[in-house]
Order: sequence, then structure tokens, then C-alpha cells
Amino acid sequence: MLDVVGASNIILEGFMGSGKSAVSALLADELSMELVDTDEIIEETEGSTINEIFEKEGEKAFRDMETDLLEAITGDHWREFVISLGGGMPVREENRRLLRKAGKIVFLKASPETIYERVKGDDKRPLLRCEDPLSKIKELMASRMEAYEDAADIVVDTDNKTVQEVVNEIVDKL
Ligand code: S3P
Repeated sequence: MLDVVGASNIILEGFMGSGKSAVSALLADELSMELVDTDEIIEETEGSTINEIFEKEGEKAFRDMETDLLEAITGDHWREFVISLGGGMPVREENRRLLRKAGKIVFLKASPETIYERVKGDDKRPLLRCEDPLSKIKELMASRMEAYEDAADIVVDTDNKTVQEVVNEIVDKL
């Protein structure tokens, strides 16, 4: 493993529904690395779902929790993990700076239409609980693209690809 990535983490960023969870699970398995998911850590720490956190404390509080978590991830304990990020994590410049210190960042790209097909009917994402999720996806994605690209060391287009194909491409590019 060390010969592939060195003493560092592999961090997956991308929009909601870009496949971070499925890809990170298979990648961690193939590279025999431990897997962590920032949304899951926040839910466990807070004892609440992401929906509940957004409803009760608001988005700003959630974003502060994300930044606090990233500060921990840049600490010495975190080495050789595959880290799946919440989709909004790279938006704050401060977070991108922390992420760069934490490891190699892989951007999983997907078109708004692909994202929509993957997330429709799923009510676990507070930002997409609206009348017209496709328009919201397009608008949010456009506003975030620069941040995703700015943070990325590696970009992988996931449209029309299987999870295995995406993982193979990441391993090739590491
Ligand atoms: C968010 C993405 C979600 C979760 C929260 C906010 C976002 O994670 O962190 O609902 O702002 O894009 P996933 O990308 O894992 O769905």
C-alpha cells in the first residue's frame, strides 16, 4: 500500500450522488486501507442525522462541524485512510487548505442528470429536499465546480462507469 500512496490519506470529494460512498468502500477494500466517512462521523458525534442537524441547528452549524472535523483529520493520527467527504466540504477555502495537508484529493465528477438519477427519491439530503431537485443540483454544482477543481489532485469522470471502473481509474492515477 505504502508504495502506492505514501504515508497519506486518499480523500474523495464530489457532489452528492457522485458515488463517493460506494467508490471509497471498494477502494479501501482493494488497497487494504481503513475507510471513514465524514458525514457518518458527524452523525455519530452529534447523535443526530444530517437532516436533524440542518433542521435544528442550521447549515452554518453543520459547516462548522465539518471544519472542526477536518482540523482533526490533519492531525498525526490520520494516516492511510480512505476518507469520503460530505459533498459541501471543499466549498470553504479554509477546508480546502486543510484537505491539501491531509492527503491526495480525488474529485469524482458527474453530470447533473446522472446525479439526479442517483439521488432521486432519497430524502437524506436536506439541500435536495425541494420542488425541483434537478435545478437545485445544476445551480449548486455550478457554484461549487471551481472549489472542487481547485482542491483536486486527480479528477475522474464517473458518468456511465461502474464503481469498479472508477476505482481502477483512481488506482491508475494515484
Ligand atoms: C452535502 C452533502 C451531503 C451531506 C449534507 C450536505 C452538500 O453528503 O454532507 O447533506 O452540501 O453537498 P453527501 O455528498 O455524502 O451526500
